[in-house]
Amino acid sequence: MANSLQSGKFAAVLPAGGLGKRMGGTIPKQLMTLGGKPVYQYCLETFLNMDEIAEVVIAVPVDWKDYFEKDIFDRISPLLGSGYSNNLSKLSIVVGGVERWQSVQNGVNALTSDAEYVLVHDVARPFISEKIIRKVCETLVNKGSCLVAKPAIDTIKIASDGRVESTIDRRKVWLAQTPQAARIDLLKSLYARIKKVPLDFTPTDEASILEFFGENVYIVEGDSTNDKLTTPEDFEIFASRASK
Ligand code: C5P
Repeated sequence: MANSLQSGKFAAVLPAGGLGKRMGGTIPKQLMTLGGKPVYQYCLETFLNMDEIAEVVIAVPVDWKDYFEKDIFDRISPLLGSGYSNNLSKLSIVVGGVERWQSVQNGVNALTSDAEYVLVHDVARPFISEKIIRKVCETLVNKGSCLVAKPAIDTIKIASDGRVESTIDRRKVWLAQTPQAARIDLLKSLYARIKKVPLDFTPTDEASILEFFGENVYIVEGDSTNDKLTTPEDFEIFASRASK
């Protein structure tokens, strides 16, 4: 393992606190079954399995906390075998917030290890690879805060009231994914600033908070395998990927 990826330096916060309204259905999308297991279990296993990740916090909807606890410690734990039980000891479950960024804030505030950096990853992106996670860790240590993003392939228009106003140079357009990552002390200091002077926008990712406060954020190039499961149509496509 390269020195920059020493185990113990990195923590992960997994926001799973949404109710998945765009998916419809009676349970949050992260609990729906995809290829034989719940959506959230995919990335949870990936992060728990990596020695580089010292600690994992998952933020879940308040009304589903008991369900998640039971599912993880009663159902997943025995399935994973003895090696994994050790990994489960690095996991904690917290209640999420009204907005995604508040779920992440709850997760970051709950971290207890000596990790310096945190990677935030949406559980609705089940197919994140260890390779990309390692690239994020390297970029964090060598350059600074970063996010995984994929290049735009379509031509991007700005429009209002159904009329096109302009076209953006798509070579400059990146579609944000996760993990998004930063130093833990930096994120905590920004949360403290937000507490004093609330934001006048609702951040949909960590990068927009970092950008707002003038921090540099670097891109780690990702691809479509890490897309977010959002609609019932996505579910069919993701189910076929899960079975491969
Ligand atoms: O709603 P969206 O798909 O953008 O959510 C991205 C991720 O953020 C999902 O994993 C979802 O569970 C999580 N989330 C959260 N807390 C919220 C809203 C969304 O942790 N209040």
